[in-house]
Amino acid sequence: MANKNLIQFEEGDLVDGRYKIIKSLGEGGMASVWKAYDIKTDTEVAIKMAKLPTESEGIKKSRSRYKNELAAFAVLNSDRHVVSLHDMFETESTLVIVMECAEGGTLNNRYRDFYDMTLEEVKFYFSRLCLALEAATRYNIVHRDIKLDNVLIGTDGEVKLADFGISIKNIDDLEAKSTIGTPKYMSPEVCDGQIATHLSDIYSLGIMMYECATGVAPFIFKSTNGSTQNSFLMAMQQIGKPLAPSKINKKIPQALENLILQMLEKNPEFRPQSAAEVRKSLLAIKRENAENVKPYVYRSKAFHSVKNRKKISSVGNVYSSLKGRFRTKFSLAFWIILFLIVVGLIVEMVVLI
Ligand SMILES: Nc1ncnc2c1ncn2[C@@H]1O[C@H](COP(=O)(O)OP(=O)(O)O)[C@@H](O)[C@H]1O
Ligand SMILES: [Mg+2]
Repeated sequence: MANKNLIQFEEGDLVDGRYKIIKSLGEGGMASVWKAYDIKTDTEVAIKMAKLPTESEGIKKSRSRYKNELAAFAVLNSDRHVVSLHDMFETESTLVIVMECAEGGTLNNRYRDFYDMTLEEVKFYFSRLCLALEAATRYNIVHRDIKLDNVLIGTDGEVKLADFGISIKNIDDLEAKSTIGTPKYMSPEVCDGQIATHLSDIYSLGIMMYECATGVAPFIFKSTNGSTQNSFLMAMQQIGKPLAPSKINKKIPQALENLILQMLEKNPEFRPQSAAEVRKSLLAIKRENAENVKPYVYRSKAFHSVKNRKKISSVGNVYSSLKGRFRTKFSLAFWIILFLIVVGLIVEMVVLI
């Protein structure tokens, strides 16, 4: 069902007297994206539109985000693996970005079609994404929302990184200090309230690589009513231990597993230090000689802060950082089980006597 907060169109509607709407391309959290025909240049384009909020603080924030998105697109425009920008303007009530139309859908659509990808597919998509991230790092840009939905496939089958809507260029950006992103892909340090760096993007890329190689994300949670629990997911990112990918998909070569686990290290210092390094390791992976590669040893300690105090936790120990509500459920279950065992023992003793 259409999100009422997003701008909706009918086929044939004209935007800014120039862009004739063809169809919807997708929706994100903040914007709707449409395929349109540009009457002036006789080309097909994608237009991304977001409603301007009504209150002045909200307008400031939206403008600042759009400015960041525009700035990122502008410097990365010549990169083959980033969606290219055509125009940007603001009407009375909307912010509009006109860009290249990537018709092949998102990597999420492709992943849904095939689930676990082959080594060759992982190499194809991720080596190109690394190139896009390398370019971003060159301009000091941190994307902050690396995920399957924000990777598009161009008409020529090429991989295009999109949605720089919450990207930051300088740590003094208005937005830099906000904990923002998608919890399923969010790095431990961002979950911990720290400012995202290019190593946080590498972590998110690692989550995506895990998901594409195994068919399932390392940290997932769905409550009984189907809603995801962001606080639980964020605790898992900080101290949960990812299951070795080859335990889920036996076809994953040891070297790919090792690279993925290293990208998912809790401490940014232990991750590959650049997208270029990830790309180099990825392209060197071969199926042959797999028995010569030793399994990666995932670090067992995580550093994070709890109520502004630094804390060291054992990785894998999710219970200690669960929010009160979850902890209550866990301890309740524990005491009920203990009670039943004791009652069982007493009954058995009485029967024996
Ligand atoms: N240039 C484009 N070409 C084709 N589809 C696009 C394009 N940009 C975005 N989309 C589609 O629209 C969706 C939302 O766009 P996105 O930029 O991610 O918005 P948001 O910032 O609200 O998340 C994407 O997941 C994708 O399906
Ligand atoms: Mg998006």
